[in-house]
Amino acid sequence: MVRLIGFFAGLVFVVALAWAAFTPREAVVVDPSYALRKHPQKIQWEQDGILGLGITGTFDRAQLQRGFQVYKEVCAACHGIERIAFRNLADIGFSEPEVKAIAKTYEVASLDDTGEASTRPAVPSDYFPSPYPNEVAARAANNNALPPDLSLITKAREGGKDYLHSLLVGYTDAPAGHEVPEGLYFNPYFANLNIAMPPPIAAAGQVTYAEGQPEPTVEQMSRDVTAFLDWAAEPKAEARKRTGAAVMIFLFILTILSYLTYRKVWADLKGSGARGIE
Ligand code: HEC
Repeated sequence: MVRLIGFFAGLVFVVALAWAAFTPREAVVVDPSYALRKHPQKIQWEQDGILGLGITGTFDRAQLQRGFQVYKEVCAACHGIERIAFRNLADIGFSEPEVKAIAKTYEVASLDDTGEASTRPAVPSDYFPSPYPNEVAARAANNNALPPDLSLITKAREGGKDYLHSLLVGYTDAPAGHEVPEGLYFNPYFANLNIAMPPPIAAAGQVTYAEGQPEPTVEQMSRDVTAFLDWAAEPKAEARKRTGAAVMIFLFILTILSYLTYRKVWADLKGSGARGIE
């Protein structure tokens, strides 16, 4: 009897699992807004290297510098990158005097001679200051929404940089029947469809790129700033990949050497008492 009950309990479990595996999500989710959501567009990023696996690949320095320019001129008004120090910019190809000059344009918190709170121009060892003094001020300036710090954003969202790029270029008019609350903007890539961030990259030419760089179209600026934020999320990614490659090559050679050693030392002993020396 117990066996029979056990069998039927198992059967119910298997049927439920099979049903869950083969039923499309749309059939189960009743939220009508689900149908309006879009998956991020997949993009071949230079930094992801061969087959887009992220095992090889290096950043395009010129693109990172353009991306930094977009961040500085557009996003920095509302978002910090507080885990990045000015000196890190040397990694994306800025010279030491350039890094110093960029740092100087920012003010960071400091104390004056009498110990009073004050500010001073930043130096390369300082970190990028947040645009708001605290969360309350940030929310007060943004319709009660909090612009997140962007240092780790490509790691913090499902879809990573593909999501970020799609979000930036994905603003459209809301479809008929979908009500967008006051002060929010329709974006099919954002989790709840209505985002508090106004379209940050709104028109071609919003940022002026240096001579010889690609045209600053919306698509181009978005890709550039996304590449920059991808670098910011892991400034040492290239060094990690290089070390990884060296380790894999080392392990490969070690495997071959181990095999040859085995052949030389042990192979003759096969069948002559492998369990111990006799
Ligand atoms: C006018 C201020 C403002 C500017 C400029 C701005 N943002 Fe935002 N951003 C916001 C606010 C506010 C939110 C929070 C939105 C929400 O929670 O609905 C946000 C959210 C985000 C998010 C998080 C989305 C998520 O999945 O939670 C990302 C990524 C982002 N912004 C990127 C950028 C980038 C890149 C730029 C520059 C190209 C930029 N923002 C410029 C105000 C701004």
